[in-house]
Amino acid sequence: MSEPILQVNGLKRHFNVGRGQVLRAVDGVTFEIRKGETLGLVGESGCGKSTIGRTIIRLYDATAGEVLFKGRNVHQMNRKEMRQFNREMQMIFQDPYASLNPRMMVGDIIGEGLDIHGLASGKERRKRIVSLLETVGLTAEHANRYPYEFSGGQRQRVGIARALAIEPEFIIADEPISALDVSIRAQVVNLMKRLQRERGLTYLFIAHDLAMVKHISDNIGVMYLGSLVEKASSQRLHENPLHPYTEALLSAIPIPDPQVEKERQRIILSGEIPSPISPPSGCRFRTRCPKAMPECALLEPELREVEPNHFVACHLYH
Ligand SMILES: Nc1ncnc2c1ncn2[C@@H]1O[C@H](COP(=O)(O)OP(=O)(O)OP(=O)(O)O)[C@@H](O)[C@H]1O
Ligand code: SF4
Ligand SMILES: [Mg+2]
Repeated sequence: MSEPILQVNGLKRHFNVGRGQVLRAVDGVTFEIRKGETLGLVGESGCGKSTIGRTIIRLYDATAGEVLFKGRNVHQMNRKEMRQFNREMQMIFQDPYASLNPRMMVGDIIGEGLDIHGLASGKERRKRIVSLLETVGLTAEHANRYPYEFSGGQRQRVGIARALAIEPEFIIADEPISALDVSIRAQVVNLMKRLQRERGLTYLFIAHDLAMVKHISDNIGVMYLGSLVEKASSQRLHENPLHPYTEALLSAIPIPDPQVEKERQRIILSGEIPSPISPPSGCRFRTRCPKAMPECALLEPELREVEPNHFVACHLYH
């Protein structure tokens, strides 16, 4: 097995939200990704997925813990190292409407990275931009248009082309398909898979439901309220989910076979997601867990390996 290219150790990112209150957006997350692999990160809105991505690329400082890229601590890099790191890791941002500069033509949005890193100019630059547009299923004519002339799906493709422009090794894709029409989601996933095969890319692929990450992920991490509750290979997580939260997420996915679908038992979680300003004591999921026991309020379960490459944070398995 290859060495991990990214290691996230005990990462925390808290926000001061006034009146002395602290919002624990990411509260002690540990995982690693090997070169050429995809880790899918899933969980409900607000559980901290985007904050993890933004902290990894150092848009945010870490409150605690560390991020190692190829063994180097990202949050301790000097300017020169950061410049190199910014070439090696790119992020596709969640909102295709907010993440493209409305005053720039799409060709220049894609070419900006080439300019910053001095990778191409003149004719060569133009050639690279057209080739990137074609790679993501757009055409040369799109280079001279502005983002408002594009649909959400096309903008997301522009975001992908921009991320690819400087040929990174690692891409954080923050909900790259959630804003897209269901009809074109598979196209974008297939595009990303092809690029991964051709260029040996490594992905952190963020989504809010398991169905979206199943086919692209080697491993999947499930998050709840700032923590990882389960992590396993995509296959194992689907055939043998252990954490009650993962079970509930999986039970929400319709099954294509109508016979099996008829018998699908949906686990409906009661209650709202608690606030990350005052998470429940012990296990954070206990206020909604159908299997909660008295000890769950007392002790926070640690993420432990219960079979090879299958980690779960739940007192039922300890
Ligand atoms: N800059 C910030 N200042 C204060 N709170 C923040 C900030 N960014 C995020 N948060 C809070 O941190 C928590 C996690 O947010 P985050 O955007 O990481 O969630 P997410 O899992 O990406 O959700 P979604 O699926 O909706 O994109 C939320 O409660 C959010 O309100
Ligand atoms: S630790 Fe307890 S409350 Fe938390 S998921 Fe397991 S059974 Fe449910
Ligand atoms: Mg998000």
